[in-house]
Amino acid sequence: MSYYKIHDLENYFKMYKKSVREPRKFWDRIADENFTWYQKWDKVFEVDMQEANFKWFLNAKVNITKNCIDRHLAKRGDKTAIIFEPNDPSEAAQHISYNELYVRVSKMANVLRDQGIKKGDRVCIYLPMIPELAVAVLACARIGAIHSVVFAGFSSSAVASRINDSECKMVITSDGSYRGNKSIDLKGIVDEALEKCPCVETVLVVNRTNTEVTMKEGRDLWLQPLMDAAIGNNVAEIMDAEDPLFILYTSGSTGKPKGMVHSTAGYMVYTAYTFKNVFNYEENDVYWCTADIGWITGHSYILYGPLLNGATTVIFEGVPSYPDFSRFWEVIEKHKVTQFYTAPTAIRALAKESLDYVQKFPLSSLKVIGSVGEPINEEAWHWYNDHVGGKRCPLVDTWWQTETGGIMISPIPFVTPTKPTYASLPLPGIQPVLMDELRNEIEGNQVTGALCIKFPWPSMARTIWGDHQRYKETYFTAFPGKYFTGDGALRDEVGYYRITGRVDDVIIVSGHNLGTAPIEDAINEHPAVAESAIVGFPHDIKGNALYGFIILKETGEGRDRNNLAIEINQLISDQIGPIAKLDKIQFVSGLPKTRSGKIMRRILRKIAEGDFSNFGDISTLLNPEIVEEIKNGKL
Ligand code: PRX
Repeated sequence: MSYYKIHDLENYFKMYKKSVREPRKFWDRIADENFTWYQKWDKVFEVDMQEANFKWFLNAKVNITKNCIDRHLAKRGDKTAIIFEPNDPSEAAQHISYNELYVRVSKMANVLRDQGIKKGDRVCIYLPMIPELAVAVLACARIGAIHSVVFAGFSSSAVASRINDSECKMVITSDGSYRGNKSIDLKGIVDEALEKCPCVETVLVVNRTNTEVTMKEGRDLWLQPLMDAAIGNNVAEIMDAEDPLFILYTSGSTGKPKGMVHSTAGYMVYTAYTFKNVFNYEENDVYWCTADIGWITGHSYILYGPLLNGATTVIFEGVPSYPDFSRFWEVIEKHKVTQFYTAPTAIRALAKESLDYVQKFPLSSLKVIGSVGEPINEEAWHWYNDHVGGKRCPLVDTWWQTETGGIMISPIPFVTPTKPTYASLPLPGIQPVLMDELRNEIEGNQVTGALCIKFPWPSMARTIWGDHQRYKETYFTAFPGKYFTGDGALRDEVGYYRITGRVDDVIIVSGHNLGTAPIEDAINEHPAVAESAIVGFPHDIKGNALYGFIILKETGEGRDRNNLAIEINQLISDQIGPIAKLDKIQFVSGLPKTRSGKIMRRILRKIAEGDFSNFGDISTLLNPEIVEEIKNGKL
């Protein structure tokens, strides 16, 4: 019997046990039976949790795009690989077959090679959710260039720092992008970013919005004429299992964003396996994940996971509220979507609107619905389950991270009974543990603790680009020998996991990971600001919103506070992006600090939440009196 597909609960437990007792045998078989390799591995893994060194499928040779595309051509050449649903519903949807995808990826791969891109070079992709984004990602993988997709909502400074960090030689962008009734000047943002990026030699520009842009002589080229002239087939580069496939930046609680590096074979095996099982994907299903390819969810579960399984995957350019709040449901109906995967923040926003929007549509094509990115609250879970899933589609609450590459804890539809707000059980190969403050593993059930993973899995990030020491320190030192997720979790009486949220200084706003440090750095650049501290507070739709406590310099004291607040948010928007703007700003004369100078965020968090009941022991603070003042300022 194949190990690839989990059939029922008994089979799940059997597979799980096998994966823990005999991980080599388990992964060897899955990798062996379901992929095309140029050469198989000598060893399934070689791992060191102390030094944070991980290798999977040692010395195997593979190209992931052969597995995403070429492998399917004989059987599924005419099958739709990608359905593109444009922002504007009156623009026709596109159906791109596997044959056509092969041609487009080959052409783009040839264009990249012609432009001097070689195996190992880094290419920054800054594109809206259009087919060229998928094609560009796959074309990089085809020739062994390392793609670094930057979410097209980031500001020019954020783009510049990501380009420079990994020294990208090329940027692929578009003239503009459409989002709802707005259009955004992407090329302008790239031009501004590139003023600070000497490493970039070439910019390829996709024409999406027909807007006028400045093309810099010797650097910028329109993509289409190059594609038209390119040959429609391409010999894929032979990659080592451990060659980096991509870099994807994620926020850290301190310092600059971390360029998480994912490698080829382990990522391929794990995303394919988890896609198949977590979405119960079957031939002829139409799968839709509403995330952006700029985030890990889009990498693993819009592109790689689905294409590795020969699936039909929807790429949606728009937003849930345009032209109105029924857009998601309309698209499900239009393309007869069978699996729908979205974020709690979208669910909460849509649940606030009239039920008519969703009830107009039978949504009878749906079989499985999923959630990702942040804890899903009870109300949102039920709304989603009742009104979208019709109480008949299993709701898979999938917990994972940019760093984990693939889904780690999740129900398996029609296998694992779901429980509202619980991500439930670990997938085979994943060994979660809860740790107490003394770094001891907490045994038994009905317990809470810091969530760690005690054994490596194939798709874990291999390092932080250019900074292995930081990788080791961030993930493998808090609980030596274990991978620390940064999340807290509880384990219920039957062993189901519920993720309770971050236990570090990362705040998840509308499903986006935001570190406090870069936002505080942006605020502190304002000439009137002396110091600042950011915390999250609960928000109906966003899950968390940002609350900034800001100390002004003397020069700022006399200034209009509303104007200052606007200027500060503008700075954040320029430095990071609009997603990181503060919902509330309170100007204060000091911040609660420990004697070693560390800001006591715990207290600020309570104040931001409006919970003044129990601040705990504040006697150890350097300035305990400030707590009362901040509290009164808020009242
Ligand atoms: O806090 C967890 C939360 O999102 C974090 C990872 O964010 P990111 O790397 O951007 O990846 C998001 C998409 C995989 C986690 O540390 N998170 C993600 N999924 C869930 C979740 N929290 C609760 N429940 C989830 N299902």
